[in-house]
Amino acid sequence: MTYNDIRKLFLEYFESKGHKIVPSASLIPNDPSLLFTVAGMVPWKGILQGTEPAFAPRVADSQKCLRAGGKHNDLDEVGFDGRHHTFFEMLGNWSFGDYFKQEAIEMSWDLLTNVLKLDPAKIRVTTHFSDDESTEIWRQVASKEAIRMGDKDNWWSAGDTGPCGPCTEMFYDFGEHIENEDDRWVEIWNDVFMQFDRDANGNLTDLPNKNVDTGAGLERWAAILQGKTDNYETDLFMNLIHATEEIVGVKKTAKNFSSFKVIADHMRAVGFAIADGVIPSNTDRGYVIRRILRRAMRHGQILGHKGALLSKLYPTLIKEMGDAYPELKKNEKHVIEIITNEENAFADMLQNGMKLLESELPKLNTKILTGDIAFKLFDTYGFPLDLTQMILRDRGLDVDVAGFEKCMTQQKERSRADTKGTRTLWESRTDLSVTDDIHKYNPTEIEAKVLAILKDGEFINSAKPGDEVEVALDKTPFYGTQGGQVGDSGEFKGIMQITETNRAGNIVIHKGKLISPLHVWDDVIPVVDEQIRLQTARAHTAAHLLQAALRIVLNDDVEQRGSKVSPNSIRFDFSFGRAMTVDEIAKTEKIINDWIVAKIPVETKFDTPIEEAKKLGALALFGEKYGDKVNVVIAGDISCELCGGTHIKNTGDIIRAKINKEKSISSGIRRITMSVGDLAK
Ligand code: ALA
Repeated sequence: MTYNDIRKLFLEYFESKGHKIVPSASLIPNDPSLLFTVAGMVPWKGILQGTEPAFAPRVADSQKCLRAGGKHNDLDEVGFDGRHHTFFEMLGNWSFGDYFKQEAIEMSWDLLTNVLKLDPAKIRVTTHFSDDESTEIWRQVASKEAIRMGDKDNWWSAGDTGPCGPCTEMFYDFGEHIENEDDRWVEIWNDVFMQFDRDANGNLTDLPNKNVDTGAGLERWAAILQGKTDNYETDLFMNLIHATEEIVGVKKTAKNFSSFKVIADHMRAVGFAIADGVIPSNTDRGYVIRRILRRAMRHGQILGHKGALLSKLYPTLIKEMGDAYPELKKNEKHVIEIITNEENAFADMLQNGMKLLESELPKLNTKILTGDIAFKLFDTYGFPLDLTQMILRDRGLDVDVAGFEKCMTQQKERSRADTKGTRTLWESRTDLSVTDDIHKYNPTEIEAKVLAILKDGEFINSAKPGDEVEVALDKTPFYGTQGGQVGDSGEFKGIMQITETNRAGNIVIHKGKLISPLHVWDDVIPVVDEQIRLQTARAHTAAHLLQAALRIVLNDDVEQRGSKVSPNSIRFDFSFGRAMTVDEIAKTEKIINDWIVAKIPVETKFDTPIEEAKKLGALALFGEKYGDKVNVVIAGDISCELCGGTHIKNTGDIIRAKINKEKSISSGIRRITMSVGDLAK
């Protein structure tokens, strides 16, 4: 039975038992606390918790999962055995408040022994020690005495909090000849009885319903049903491996098998993730995918191959899995383009970095590579630390990770000092008691007190006319640069021209030149330049409209990757795999201008609990840390974003918007520059 047959058989079985069959959810979860979908239940968390309605009482699917970062991470194990994968398919059936233990266990047993015809004698089952009910059901249904286990093995949850419950697991005996117990007895199915919710203090409360969440690794089922002990010897993987042999011009042997395994595994992870909208980058899930791709290239190199590899292998992935997951084919051009860009960018660096590494290794007196060489490989040649570790692990060597991290910190500090100047000095002023959110009420002029003055890197008590200083006040109407929005400018009436406003934590730093003497504890009247504030607010609201328009014209996967909103222009970076056409740019600009003409009210809901913001469907920047209370900016039903910036009250105030340029800034990331108001001509 092939993968495609087994997947189909599983789904048909549960369809015959009244389950609604649904396609896999994306590998990019809706939940900002997770990098990837790590289990079949991730998309259903809201239903289990009762915050979303169940669309059917019984559901079954084959869910794409990726465990390669964060809490669930199998990346380092791939290639060393026949069981570990970063990407895998989890077959699952769900009951949302419908059947519970009895029927779940009956169906699992029926499918395994009557449909798949596995030998009942080769199956062992476990239950949670508290779960007498499941243990008794196993006796009746299968005449099996379950092995009772503790929380570590038989209590399942996706994270430390959230839906959880006892589970019963089924293990298959791969044969007495296998010495290692973990390889001999392999878990093939897990039925979780989700009936509790765990809060942050560890307390359990009842979920609104008693639910069933099951998960079975398709790769393991394929191994059993095809009589293999190594998942990578099953049809899907062997087809990927044969295609790899063709590309690299080398045949698989017992010795190089592990490189072929890594390439096949990583092809699935990279291909599926990019097809779902992940763009390789230097942060978050984009970096996980970049690292996996670079590891695959290194294994290509071990096999004697140079340059593009996964981009050539992707068509085979489509052939193998494209029927079950049409998104692979639908996004083929985009995925191949992105992988090709990544591979081209890294190919030379990999060759040169390896040369550096080979020249350094003979100099080692110990089994540890120094942190500065690992850092040079990272900084100059783009070797993620884990890639260097993987290369060295083959030779019994390791990296001085602490030394590497020290170099990394030093470099960060250097660049911070270069770009942010005095921020560290200000950050040390934890004694200053400031109110930093006056700008939200939109006053442009208030009375305030001088708390600190910084000149030439030192805090001073008084300064004289002509001095270039930075000043902190007890409260201020000025918005200090943050969240991509450039800070306000203006004056302290009669005392100082403010040309730049920054932030260090909650301190707003006013920078400028004194026209009168200034002392700590002086009273001043900070006045924001209203015209500049208005023009910045226009730009910021327009940036939100731009994102909303792009999601209409291009697709919903477009994600903001950075932005700079200043009175003169908007720079907006977003994930998208190709250049926009002239037509798409014109359409985007037209949609924004139509919204401007429609004069849609723009409202900021300050201090909204994050849960409520999520319910409103507010777009958040992935990787950004948000507190419990957030500001949500809502423009009619067009746009809803978490945002701390300043905005106009009506889209009509933008007057006009014009897209000036659209270009690539790195692989998979585009940049649009746009003007608003009178500048948009
Ligand atoms: N959610 C369960 C698991 O991932 C089925 O094992």
